[in-house]
Amino acid sequence: MMRQLDQEHEDDATAIDALLDDLFGADRFGRTAYRFRDHCPPLQDMGFVMREGDRLLASVRFWPLVIRAADFRHDGLLLGPLAVAKHIAGTGAGTALMRHGLDLASAKGLGPVFLIGDPGYYGRVGFRPVLPKTCHLPGPFDAIRLLYHPAGGPFGSLDDLPDPLALEPVTR
Ligand SMILES: CC(C)(COP(=O)(O)OP(=O)(O)OC[C@H]1O[C@@H](n2cnc3c(N)ncnc32)[C@H](O)[C@@H]1OP(=O)(O)O)[C@@H](O)C(=O)NCCC(=O)NCCS
Repeated sequence: MMRQLDQEHEDDATAIDALLDDLFGADRFGRTAYRFRDHCPPLQDMGFVMREGDRLLASVRFWPLVIRAADFRHDGLLLGPLAVAKHIAGTGAGTALMRHGLDLASAKGLGPVFLIGDPGYYGRVGFRPVLPKTCHLPGPFDAIRLLYHPAGGPFGSLDDLPDPLALEPVTR
């Protein structure tokens, strides 16, 4: 059966939760990335899934965040969670979902994209560590795993990012 990249629909939520439970466990809610998700829904129209018939095999979502520096405030995005069913890992689904989301974030000018994850994996779609710049998040994180992608502007390369900066959750 053909695999298909599709927009996330409202009735996908249960299957996505089951996938996230399976891959990250129920204790995922303690992670710092979830401080951006606690009081705010994911960005509408920026949820994408991989389907095979009726089965949901992979998902990516984006949350809004605020980038704040001394005299500066700008909207940005947090990529994730990205989840790919174990039996199709390594077949390109994760990369395809991320590329699709990043392309749309760029086209819509939604701002730069951040995530907490493995530089070895996310580097393939253009993410780079924010280090050596100083960035404050609403919880503990491993600094080498905080990654940046210029996506929808207004900064070009990492050099253009303010230092220090803070990423703050949005409440909606
Ligand atoms: C990590 C994950 C998102 C990758 O998605 P995927 O669809 O399997 O990845 P792709 O098929 O697009 O890419 C596979 C490539 O990435 C590489 N890769 C996968 N995880 C990697 C990692 N942590 N570090 C470096 N490379 C990695 C694979 O070796 C493979 O390399 P190749 O193309 O040279 O063979 C997926 O396996 C997953 O959901 N894992 C469990 C949950 C998780 O860890 N999510 C990310 C947390 S932030």
